[in-house]
Amino acid sequence: MKALVCSVCGYVHLQNVAPDTCPICGAPSKEFSLKEDALKTKDDIVTVGETEKKHLPVITIENKNCCGDQGCKEIRAKIGELIHPMKPEHFIFKIVFYADKNFIGHISLTPSLNPIGTICIGNVEYKKISVVAHCNIHGNWISEI
Ligand SMILES: [Fe+2]
Repeated sequence: MKALVCSVCGYVHLQNVAPDTCPICGAPSKEFSLKEDALKTKDDIVTVGETEKKHLPVITIENKNCCGDQGCKEIRAKIGELIHPMKPEHFIFKIVFYADKNFIGHISLTPSLNPIGTICIGNVEYKKISVVAHCNIHGNWISEI
């Protein structure tokens, strides 16, 4: 799947026009370029094998009232259905969250952590939540819910 990608930090933008600045590293819009293979999706894959099962984010949304904001929702992203390995030479280094294709947050990981991230979006309804997992070897993988 093609998308605009920041050449400085690798952030993948899910909209058609580059942002004024990268929401992760602050690079200006000129650092964004369209990459044909920016994201791998479930639909790009003909046969879902072990590699796909280890990279496609598994997203769950729960009403947890986790922050005291009545009705707030926790978004949890696990990478993936079979948990991705976390070794210094091969790991998930970033999980990025989007609401209705807008960046809402990211989590940076080291190999000492498990590839799971949660955020609280408060008491807000969105049509679509997207999560991109960044693997240092196998690229960027998106799931949507
Ligand atoms: Fe990987």
